[in-house]
Amino acid sequence: MAKSLIPDKASNLSEAIMTEMVLPQHTNAIGTVFGGVIMSWVDIAAAICAERHANKQVVTASVDALEFLAPIKLGWIVTLKASVNYVWTTSCEVGVKVTAENPRTGEYFHTASAYVTMVALDSHSRPTGIPQVIPSSLDQKRRYEEAKFRRISRLELKKQNAERANQKDVP
Ligand SMILES: CC(C)(COP(=O)(O)OP(=O)(O)OC[C@H]1O[C@@H](n2cnc3c(N)ncnc32)[C@H](O)[C@@H]1OP(=O)(O)O)[C@@H](O)C(=O)NCCC(=O)NCCS
Repeated sequence: MAKSLIPDKASNLSEAIMTEMVLPQHTNAIGTVFGGVIMSWVDIAAAICAERHANKQVVTASVDALEFLAPIKLGWIVTLKASVNYVWTTSCEVGVKVTAENPRTGEYFHTASAYVTMVALDSHSRPTGIPQVIPSSLDQKRRYEEAKFRRISRLELKKQNAERANQKDVP
């Protein structure tokens, strides 16, 4: 796969910050947000960030385990912060941190973190090269190093899932 001719880009240039208010249509019977709503917002924030970085159409290849650390209630404000942690050839890992804020008390809660792999597509919908990312802050450099290890487990899981899918008796 040929690399893009677009120059390498700093992580800061593609960072995405998305803010949502929790409305009745986002909540369950006990007034807290549905996990699926958060997953959808995570996916959107990651896509905005990856498209800004790649300047190309991207699709979600995978999302690593998503753990919900604290409930988010009706009327609260949810902020999703997404940044490109690492770029391989056609794919990149986008880290998304979700925080919830109770606007009446001003308290903040770290609610979830997710690692999303996005793949850039060319005009024929084939994976295509994207610029490498340049981390600058200490946090960006830490995430850059950690992303390399996450990729190993992610591709191993993909291989296992493919093998499982080939076994006839597995749903
Ligand atoms: C993601 C997709 C484009 C990959 O296409 P593919 O034919 O498997 O292409 P490749 O094998 O060349 O993989 C392309 C890149 O994706 C990465 N990739 C593919 N599957 C992956 C997975 N499950 N997790 C992480 N990375 C993955 C590969 O490692 C490769 O990265 P690299 O070029 O940076 O090394 C293709 O599977 C697809 O279109 N999936 C559906 C995407 C979609 O519709 N998402 C919305 C949610 S359903």
